[in-house]
Amino acid sequence: MIFRILNAFLLLSIAVHAFYLPGVAPTSYQPSDAVELFVNHITPTVPYDSHDEKRYLYSYDYYNPKFHFCEPEGGRKRQSESLGSVIFGDRIYNSPFHLEMLKNTTCNILCTSKVPQKDTEFFSKAIRTGFQYNWLIDGLPVARNMEDSKTDTTYYSSGFALGLVDEDNVAHPYNNFNLFVEYHLREDGNYRVVGVTVYPESLGYKSESEPKCDSPELEPVTFNAEGETKITYTYSVYWIPSDTVWATRWDKYLHVYDPKIQWFSLLNFGFIVIVLSTILFNLLYHQLNKEIIKYNEINLDDDGIDDLGWKMVSGDVFRSPSNPMLLSVLLGSGAQLVLMAVVTCGFALLGLISPSNRGSLSTMVFVLYALFGFVGSFVSGTVYKFFDGQDWRVNMILTPILVPGLIFAAFILLNFSLIFVKSSGAVPIGTMLTIVAIWFVVSLPLSCLGSIFALRRKRIEPSCKVNQIARQIPHQPWCLRLPFLSLAAGIFPFGSIAIEMYFVYKSLWFSRIYYMFGFLFFCFLLMLATTLLVTLLVMYLILSNENYKWQWGSFIVGGGISFYVFVHAILLSKFQIRDLASIILYVGYSLLLSLGVGLMCGTVGFLGSMVFVLTIYKRIKTD
Ligand SMILES: *[C@@H]1O[C@H](CO)[C@@H](O)[C@H](O)[C@H]1NC(C)=O
Repeated sequence: MIFRILNAFLLLSIAVHAFYLPGVAPTSYQPSDAVELFVNHITPTVPYDSHDEKRYLYSYDYYNPKFHFCEPEGGRKRQSESLGSVIFGDRIYNSPFHLEMLKNTTCNILCTSKVPQKDTEFFSKAIRTGFQYNWLIDGLPVARNMEDSKTDTTYYSSGFALGLVDEDNVAHPYNNFNLFVEYHLREDGNYRVVGVTVYPESLGYKSESEPKCDSPELEPVTFNAEGETKITYTYSVYWIPSDTVWATRWDKYLHVYDPKIQWFSLLNFGFIVIVLSTILFNLLYHQLNKEIIKYNEINLDDDGIDDLGWKMVSGDVFRSPSNPMLLSVLLGSGAQLVLMAVVTCGFALLGLISPSNRGSLSTMVFVLYALFGFVGSFVSGTVYKFFDGQDWRVNMILTPILVPGLIFAAFILLNFSLIFVKSSGAVPIGTMLTIVAIWFVVSLPLSCLGSIFALRRKRIEPSCKVNQIARQIPHQPWCLRLPFLSLAAGIFPFGSIAIEMYFVYKSLWFSRIYYMFGFLFFCFLLMLATTLLVTLLVMYLILSNENYKWQWGSFIVGGGISFYVFVHAILLSKFQIRDLASIILYVGYSLLLSLGVGLMCGTVGFLGSMVFVLTIYKRIKTD
């Protein structure tokens, strides 16, 4: 039953895409109106078979000179794109294809390109390692028509390979493209594009000027071992009537590979986590209640002194941690990230991010992150004040600069490796400057405002006084030391996102459209909840052992997940990459991702523990 509901929930989150979204108004055509075909970057794909185990993680410009693809008359023109779309790697140009609504044409010649010998190796390697074309017609990706044998349905897989690879691992470039454009005739007499598929072929034409596109018996194009290779590119266009309406045209692209399996494993896990959590929570709650009553009954002079546990440290538990500045700055940035992630996911879930609006997801991530600088600084300032910190000016400046600055620096470094391999993924200088400008104009002032708000507010008063002299912390057994606790605690929240990580990576690295936001949201919340619970439990343990350094402790224990995310990305990733630039990119981004997740969970762990500590110490009588 619950399974049904969740499944419906998932489908609903896809269906809301159907609503009219601002900024993605449909285009209507009349017969023989021109329909433009745009070309986007050439991207690597997820390995689907094993003919070449090497994989690359960066993409190329469509008009990279080594491919020698046909150019449009009048030269290529870059199409304008949103900021997020540029950061995400889209590089969209016009193309030499001519499509007219309802006009079937066959065997149009694009051009005959000459690939000199020095570039054939590059081209053929790109085919063997699975790079693919990404074309767009009316905002829809040109796709291959695929069949899902499990559910017996057809779906569209965006993009298509540069060529085919035969049994002897020889690459043959595709040079004839059969485009099938599905159109929908509306009642008002307008036509709309509702689907685009391609059937590419590699045809070694006998004649350059009169290619015979409908001769499947032709040998595929083969690169000359010596000298240049001439490739004649041709295409045909077929207009197919369709019942699909414009609003649902993305459905076939957003095919869910057996969602049952995903929900099933997630539910299994979620169930275990929830049951365990409830039991643990109950135990903790009752145990604490019992202890509080006991503590409040006995006097310190009595004999019961040896198991007083966490009450013993009441005079030290609110002592400022070492380096309160760094901790509060990290917590502020963590809170900023958590909010950004939750709100982005929520928006996506509500269907406010449409795949038609390219780059809207990454633009939103960026804008929300900048806006939530306010909250980040507020949290940072509040916590810093709670720690009794005095240098609030440093806190105010450091919060919006430290973590975002580090992320930006890492981004620039990784960008260098993209520039080095001449990938199109490298973000242009202009975009970089825009990001910095937005930062200064939007995020920095907002952050300062957040700091000032925090400063103006009353300090959160600790519920116990801090003793003058710090108490000595008794020797802690190895199993109660931070590194062990952090690693042990990290397993649980990691478990709740492990299944989802593969899909996230796939869409990050291989530009798959990501749409399972319902699923992601669920996983994310589960992760935060598990982190919170496990951290509280650990904090109870260490406080009972008279270790009062819970501030950094809770942050580090909560952030333990980071280690697993990183190791999982490195060891268990199914993507085999060998070349240096790809390795640097992969390790770099995995590190950023795992640290980001760690920061979020650490923050949740800390904030939870802060409330916990404030609450339990408020309830005991101190003298
Ligand atoms: C174009 O070709 C397709 C496929 O052969 C056919 O179904 C369709 O009716 C044709 N359209 C026109 C306008 O001739």
